[in-house]
Amino acid sequence: MEPNDFFNPNFLKELALSVLNSINDGILIADKVGIIQYVNPEYTRIVGMKPKDLLGKILADVRPGAILPAVIETGKTVSGVYREVKETKYVVDIAPIVHDGNIVGGVSIVKDITEVKKLSKALESAQSSLQKLQSTMESYFCPKYTLSQLKGDSEKLNRTIKLAEKAALADANILLLGESGTGKELIAQGIHNASPRQHGPFVPVNCAAIPSVLLESELFGYADGAFTGARKGGKLGLFQLAHRGTLFLDEIGDMHVDMQAKLLRIIQEQKVRRVGELNEQKIDVRIIAATNQDIEAMVKRGRFRQDLYYRLNAFQLSVPPLRERKEDIINLSYSIANDYDETITFTLSEEVKKLFYLFDWPGNIRELKNVIEYACNMTSQDGEIKIEHLPERMQNSKYHPYLSSEYLQPLKDSVKQFEKKLLQNLLIKFGETLEGKKKIAKILKISVSSLYRKLED
Ligand SMILES: Nc1ncnc2c1ncn2[C@@H]1O[C@H](COP(=O)(O)OP(=O)(O)OP(=O)(O)O)[C@@H](O)[C@H]1O
Ligand SMILES: [Mg+2]
Repeated sequence: MEPNDFFNPNFLKELALSVLNSINDGILIADKVGIIQYVNPEYTRIVGMKPKDLLGKILADVRPGAILPAVIETGKTVSGVYREVKETKYVVDIAPIVHDGNIVGGVSIVKDITEVKKLSKALESAQSSLQKLQSTMESYFCPKYTLSQLKGDSEKLNRTIKLAEKAALADANILLLGESGTGKELIAQGIHNASPRQHGPFVPVNCAAIPSVLLESELFGYADGAFTGARKGGKLGLFQLAHRGTLFLDEIGDMHVDMQAKLLRIIQEQKVRRVGELNEQKIDVRIIAATNQDIEAMVKRGRFRQDLYYRLNAFQLSVPPLRERKEDIINLSYSIANDYDETITFTLSEEVKKLFYLFDWPGNIRELKNVIEYACNMTSQDGEIKIEHLPERMQNSKYHPYLSSEYLQPLKDSVKQFEKKLLQNLLIKFGETLEGKKKIAKILKISVSSLYRKLED
C-alpha cells in the first residue's frame, strides 16, 4: 500500500468500517432525518436487536426514547447518558456529525456497563462483609487494656504489673494465678499489648465454658466432613486464629485431663492438626493460661498434668486479691464509676470509704464493679455515693462502719463523734458565717448559743 492510499476515499471508508465493526463499543449512525444508516455488531449485541430490524428504520420508531434525534436537531453533544434495557445497563455518548458546517447526521456510542455494575455491586458487598468481619475481629481479637491503665496505688499490684511487663517481652508462656474477679483477663490483655505480638490477634478461650467434647475442635479446628454436622469446608481452630498472636486459655484448671495431653503435644511440637486431617500446620502462638484454682494442689492430686503445668508456668504471675491491696479500692471505684457514667462526678462518702476499706471483697474487682454500678444508679444528682445507696448485703455487712471496732465504745462517745461529723458537714454546707450558723441551729432545733457551745467542744 502506498502512503497516498490513506487519502483514497474508498480505502478510508473500508478502514472506518473495519474499525467500527471491530471496536468494543456499540456504534449507531443515523442520517439527518433520523434514519439508521449503520450499526456495528457490538451495538446489536448490547441492545439485543438484529441489524435488519434497525437499518433503514426511523430511529425514534425502533428505539423509543433515543436522544440522538434531538442531538441531530440541536447539534449539541450529550455524554454519559445512563440507560437500562432489560438486564443490560449501558452509557451513551451522542454527537452530531457535521460536514461542511452542516449537520448531516449523528452518532451514538454505547458502552455496556452491565459487567462493571455487577462487579462493582459484588465489590460493594464484599467490602461491606469485609468491614463487618474486620469490626468483629477487632472487637474480639484486639484487646483494649494496657498494663499502664491497670496500675494501681498498691505496692503489691504494681509489683505484679512490673513482672508482667518483663514477661510480656520474654515471649514465654505465662501462668496467671489469682482469685476470681481479680482482673486476670485484663492483665492478659495488657501483656499481649506490651508484647512484640501486639499487632497479632489476642484470642480468648474460656476452657470452662466449652464442653470438653467440643473443646478439641474449637481449639484445633476440623477438616471438611470430619464428622456428621461438621461445617462445609471445615473450620479453623482457635490455635490457627491466634497464629503470631496470643492465645488466652482462661480457667485452664477446668480442662479435662485428655485435653491437657493434646494441648501439651501442641505446645511441644508447635504444630496443630485439624480434627479429621492428616497434615499438620506450623503455628506460632504464645499461651497465657489463667486459673483461680490452686493448680499446684491439683498437680499434686493428679488432676492437672505436671508436664503441662511446667510448660505453661515458664512465667508465673499472681494477681493479688483486692483485700490485700486496699489502697487501690478508692481510685478503682472512681474509675469504674466514671466509666459507668462520665457525665456525673461521683464521690464516695467518708462512711462508704470506710466500709469499702473494711470489707473483704470475696468477689474482688468484679464485686466492686457490681457494687459501684448499683450505687451509681441509686445516687441523687449530686453523685455522692452514701451507705444507703449500696446493695443491702453491704449495708448489713459486719463491716458497716458503725459495727466496726472503733464504734464499740461508750454510747456517749459515739454520739459525740457523730455530732462532730454532722456539725462539720453542716458548716461546709451552710457556711461558717453567723447567717449560716443561724440556719443550722434552726434545722437542728437548738439555740444559736448551744450550737456555739457544741462547736467550741
Ligand atoms: N483494673 C481494673 N479496672 C477496672 N475494671 C477492672 C479492673 N480489673 C478488673 N476489672 C473488672 O473486673 C471484672 C473481672 O475482671 P476479670 O474478668 O479480668 O477477672 P478474672 O480474674 O479473669 O476473673 P475470673 O477468675 O472469675 O475469670 C471485669 O468486669 C473487669 O472489667
Ligand atoms: Mg477470667
